Amino acid sequence: MSEKVIVFDTTLRDGEQSPGASMNAAEKLRLARQLERLGVDAIEAGFPAASQGDLEAVALVASKIQKAEVTALARSSKDDIDLAWKAVKEAAKPRIHTFLATSDIHMRYKLKMSREDVIRSSVEAVRYAKSFTENVEFSAEDGSRSDRDFLCKVFEAVIEAGATTVNLPDTVGYALPDEFAELVRYVISHTPNIHKAVFSVHCHNDLGLATANTLSALKAGARQVEVTINGIGERAGNASLEEVVMALYTRKDRLGLDTSIETREIYSTSRLVSMVTGIMVQPNKAIVGANAFSHEAGIHQDGVLKNAQTYEIMAPDMVGISSNTLVLGKHSGRHAFKKKLAQLGYEFSEEEVDRLFAKFKELADKRKEILDEDIEVLVAEEVLRVPDIYELEYLNVVSGTVAVPTATVKLKIRGKEAQNAGFGVGPIDATFNTIAKMTGSRSKLLRFTVNAISGGMDAQGEVTVRLQENGLVALGKGADPDIITASAKAYVNGLNRLEYLKRNPALSAKDAVV
Ligand code: KIV
Ligand code: ZN
Repeated sequence: MSEKVIVFDTTLRDGEQSPGASMNAAEKLRLARQLERLGVDAIEAGFPAASQGDLEAVALVASKIQKAEVTALARSSKDDIDLAWKAVKEAAKPRIHTFLATSDIHMRYKLKMSREDVIRSSVEAVRYAKSFTENVEFSAEDGSRSDRDFLCKVFEAVIEAGATTVNLPDTVGYALPDEFAELVRYVISHTPNIHKAVFSVHCHNDLGLATANTLSALKAGARQVEVTINGIGERAGNASLEEVVMALYTRKDRLGLDTSIETREIYSTSRLVSMVTGIMVQPNKAIVGANAFSHEAGIHQDGVLKNAQTYEIMAPDMVGISSNTLVLGKHSGRHAFKKKLAQLGYEFSEEEVDRLFAKFKELADKRKEILDEDIEVLVAEEVLRVPDIYELEYLNVVSGTVAVPTATVKLKIRGKEAQNAGFGVGPIDATFNTIAKMTGSRSKLLRFTVNAISGGMDAQGEVTVRLQENGLVALGKGADPDIITASAKAYVNGLNRLEYLKRNPALSAKDAVV
């Protein structure tokens, strides 16, 4: 039997640190449920000291997740650890994850602490966390740039204090694979009590080496990987779960290690993360990108038709991209439609499926083929929709090489019609400025993405916006053959969601994505 690697998913914490990716409680819960289906061993649900909202989000995840451990991040301070425990204490399997930087540069400039101070604080933090739970992880932030012998001393001390996992992060994505493996080997062989804890790694992707470094560390003896779906995370992101897991799966001949991941859930998890965060997956992204299994060159297509293994090192259905992907059209029934929803990572009540199915039938009457993206828009518009305060009635935009971009907008605001016009640096800016003026919105646009649904000149443009106001974050989606109209729809949709969040402060306790 091969040894098992613990998969610690930090999409909801480090992943959430991607610019514009902050998630509300209901979004985190939806993703956590999918992560559980995917079979991750631990879900890092957030950083409760960051905000009351995040504490509530972690607590919500902790109260619902049964199989996976639920963990919360805490700096090495009592206050942070209290909050982390408050958030995860109802979990079936709670874990506290505390950290302190160990590199000279962090200790000197950021922490203004000596090595002795750092050892003392780390030990105190672990001991304090242990007073709440057996399951305590300690991370040596910027570990890859730390003095090796000092790192070994810190790990020895925190293990002695009760840490059950010690994590070596390449916080700034600086390490090279052979160097990182050497460091892991060194720390394992120079920390006398290392066998009493799980050795973990956490790699960032600043040089595009996060997956390579993670795999090298596993070869050198690490047994937990900290990863995110689609590789999202601080700056250039983290090692991507799907890459690490599929490398272990595909190259078991060399790596000889297993995980508990249900690989067929990878694709739907990736879609859901991208849908919730509004961060699109680049087409050439390994494993889950739109082109990951498509063959363009004639020679390649010919080869694949003769024997898929000529150009495919893994079968697409192993990651949940079914070769007989359900293509839906007007003859598709409710059963196939529900199966498609499941493939995309959605679990809805029968009543919600009925509502969606009715809308799907309306769309299918107008279009030959319904793509996954069309279904995602339906889901966003129908099930994830909130009661509308603002409705877009009319939009007229003038722009061009000489005209000052101007938008004239008619909205229904709480049922009453209103009209206004405004300028901007471009047609979308003019539209958003006008809508913001009419609704009095002070929200900040965190993210704006445009995607073409299907190819061809008649493709629908799908726009996603993420809006933030007073700590609340809402996603807005809109689709239309005209991308300026799609943008206006997405913006109005996002504003409605923000309003809904404002009126429902207790929403974090509800199981619905807003
Ligand atoms: O990158 C990092 O060092 C981290 C730690 C908090 C584990 O995210
Ligand atoms: Zn990190």
